[in-house]
Amino acid sequence: MPRYRLWLLTVALWVSGCGGPFPQTTLEPRSDFGSAIDQLFTGIFWWAAGVFLVVETLLVITLIRFRHREGRPAPKPTHGHTLMEIAWTLAPAAILVFVAVPTVRTIFATAGEAPADALKVDVIGHQWWWEFRYRELGLVTANELHVPLGRAVQLSITSADVIHAFWAPPLGGKRDAIPGHVNRIAFRADRVGVYDGQCAEFCGASHANMRLRVVVDSDSGFGRWATVQLAGPAAPAAGTLAERGKAVFARSACIGCHTIQGVSPGVIGPNLTHVGSRATIASGLFPNDSAHLASWIADAPALKPGSLMTRMKPPLKDDDIAALVAYLASLK
Ligand code: CUA
Repeated sequence: MPRYRLWLLTVALWVSGCGGPFPQTTLEPRSDFGSAIDQLFTGIFWWAAGVFLVVETLLVITLIRFRHREGRPAPKPTHGHTLMEIAWTLAPAAILVFVAVPTVRTIFATAGEAPADALKVDVIGHQWWWEFRYRELGLVTANELHVPLGRAVQLSITSADVIHAFWAPPLGGKRDAIPGHVNRIAFRADRVGVYDGQCAEFCGASHANMRLRVVVDSDSGFGRWATVQLAGPAAPAAGTLAERGKAVFARSACIGCHTIQGVSPGVIGPNLTHVGSRATIASGLFPNDSAHLASWIADAPALKPGSLMTRMKPPLKDDDIAALVAYLASLK
């Protein structure tokens, strides 16, 4: 390949980084936690930029001024210059203080402490999905975490199996989800929206498919959502496909792993009581529509490598799957 083409390719690759959108950028914080990290990052960036500028300027001046020229004697090296030695010891030490003080301050500010009235949510990592338990509300959901705008939220993060890490970049830093141990994050979201996140610790075959969403609702929006989630599951109307789906659900392996309030008690997989109200399935991997639900029920491991929801034996018939899909979709 001629060299200019290689350059063009390299430049094109660089420029493609400017395209956006950047759903998981940390540079557009949407919470007090996110802003604290962003300010720290910006401050340290400018210190680093200043150091780079000074060092590179001195280096370039030295290269030009002291380069070897015909007939010129070698420049005289400097030895034991007390003033210079004090200067290049004190200057970096001073810069490190300016970096360390805000860093330590931010570490304490983002340690996960929250006021007593904070909304408390237990976050439990599973291979490969997220469980969210709202202790005070008595509410359990999966993969889509709803929080109210402007109210302090405290997440208590742990794991049911291996080590995962909870990370919703616009809202703050990541925290490990460790079995038998609780780590905390506290934040106050400052803009309504839907924010993508994902597991940030390698946890097995579908680590990359262990996504999540944080939905920041207005205060009233959150109240409405919680009311709907707290209600029992919708009962399908008599004679509908959904009603047949409920019967299929009740006699299939589904009940061993999934909870539907009042229908089945399983706790291995996500709680499905209001699965129809979620925007995605399979931990944020696919949109929650009939086509994806049907393929998911038929063969989850084909869509998500290693999925602990295996193919059913014997496989479900197509019309049973269609009925199941209708039932799950009705669980708003
Ligand atoms: Cu869970 Cu990576």
